[in-house]
Amino acid sequence: MENRLEMKGITKSFGGVHALTSVNFSVRPGEIHALIGENGAGKSTLMRILSGACNSDCGEIVINGRPASIKSPMDSVKLGVAVIYQEYALATDLTVAENIFLDNITTGGKIVNWKRLERKAQELLAKLNFSDIDVNAKVSDFSMAYQQVVEICKGLSKDISILALDEPTALLSNKEVDKLFELLITLKDRGVSIIYISHRLEEIFQISDRISVLKDGCFVGTVDTADTDKQSLVGMMVGRNLNDYYPKREVKIGDVIFEVNNLNSGKETKNVSFNIRSGEILGLYGLVGSGRTETALAIFGLRSISSGEIFLEGKKVEIKNPKEAFRHGIGYLSEDRKHTGLLLDMSIKHNITLSAIDKFTSGLFSSINLKEENNYALGEVEKLAIHTNNINNLTSSLSGGNQQKVAIAKVLAPKCKVIIMDEPTRGVDVGSKREIYHIMNMLLERGCAILMISSEMEEIIGMCDRVLVMHEGTINGELDKSEINETRLISLAMEVD
Ligand SMILES: Nc1ncnc2c1ncn2[C@@H]1O[C@H](COP(=O)(O)OP(=O)(O)OP(=O)(O)O)[C@@H](O)[C@H]1O
Ligand SMILES: [Mg+2]
Repeated sequence: MENRLEMKGITKSFGGVHALTSVNFSVRPGEIHALIGENGAGKSTLMRILSGACNSDCGEIVINGRPASIKSPMDSVKLGVAVIYQEYALATDLTVAENIFLDNITTGGKIVNWKRLERKAQELLAKLNFSDIDVNAKVSDFSMAYQQVVEICKGLSKDISILALDEPTALLSNKEVDKLFELLITLKDRGVSIIYISHRLEEIFQISDRISVLKDGCFVGTVDTADTDKQSLVGMMVGRNLNDYYPKREVKIGDVIFEVNNLNSGKETKNVSFNIRSGEILGLYGLVGSGRTETALAIFGLRSISSGEIFLEGKKVEIKNPKEAFRHGIGYLSEDRKHTGLLLDMSIKHNITLSAIDKFTSGLFSSINLKEENNYALGEVEKLAIHTNNINNLTSSLSGGNQQKVAIAKVLAPKCKVIIMDEPTRGVDVGSKREIYHIMNMLLERGCAILMISSEMEEIIGMCDRVLVMHEGTINGELDKSEINETRLISLAMEVD
């Protein structure tokens, strides 16, 4: 069968980093083609070259049998290519409708028919089964998952024959993932070629026709999904087999160290009460919009609390801002690394050490021991296998998953007693995921308590000692380790229980 897209001999370096080395990648019409590989393997870079957001050093792109010259995003749009990025590019101060048609508005030069634009935006969202999104609301009012849906609609507002999605489901819960998959199947049936990047192998088996693997910037191979399995894919990606995916934990669960009583904050957190013991991972599961993240933000002092009490080691604490939370020993790993997690324009080293700068500061003049700071950062980079050759590089130069690892190192630095982790392994490859689970176990050994928000059921089942399930701002149920399974989680999250 003829290929819709062929990328041949694509090579790209950033300074000394070889992001892609002579990669050959081709996609057929009407297929869903998964692109996988470890963090930093070059997946996003390949897609950015396809979209014209970045130019290759050498190589050739052929679309429908004709050589395509893609030098800028405009070129790729004209060729019917839409790429939805891992980090979104939405203008959060504009409305949903404006965002969806942004490129059309700004290139037309004609008078905009706003009513028509709103209607069309509404139609697109309805097609995606997201008619509950108000097209006149500002994008910044929505959760990241909904912002993602808007981003996808934006891609679909154009006439496309190749659609690439870079980790589209990282922020979606199961229900939303199902909706997205329905949409992808419809597009595929219409002949659209879909490139699908994800670290979630279950999804890849569910949705893709073929799978290509990149490793360290090189093309490893393409296989038919029906002819492969998880083990052999992992083997292709990391070059070795991974067995104990969720490492065993031998930690004794101790006394209650953290307690939240009748917490209320806006519509999203209603009478939330729970406690966590030292050495314990308490999961917080729920659909997108159930109030999980908002509850975490309220505890951490990033959302105002209307009533409720928080106790740490039996003592009542008042937390009005993140600084106070840190002072009390409460750490928070944000789901949103771009806005509240990391300073992308700062070096990798400084992001890691910033929240623990006291550790490296001493003496009368509070001088920072640069050597110690450096060594600490280097140690974390090694421990978490952060893919970089210089810790003084800007954090923005790292691949998505490696940025997430820097965010984790940052949270670990101040030695907190209670750590809230919102989607800790989002965008992280299989090998590094296991490293993060190991680190969580290490924290528990130290006597920490962890509250883990996750949309990945497998992760909740594999890691949690107990789970709370939220629905519309309230806790709808609690499951003990022996009771945690997919059916129970979903039914509590959707309130069919
Ligand atoms: N603008 C840039 N400047 C410097 N290095 C870069 C830049 N963009 C990407 N790189 C490097 O290129 C390599 C490939 O990165 P890329 O983002 O394509 O990986 P990826 O496969 O998408 O990883 P992930 O799964 O973590 O998203 C990485 O080593 C990354 O640090
Ligand atoms: Mg990427």
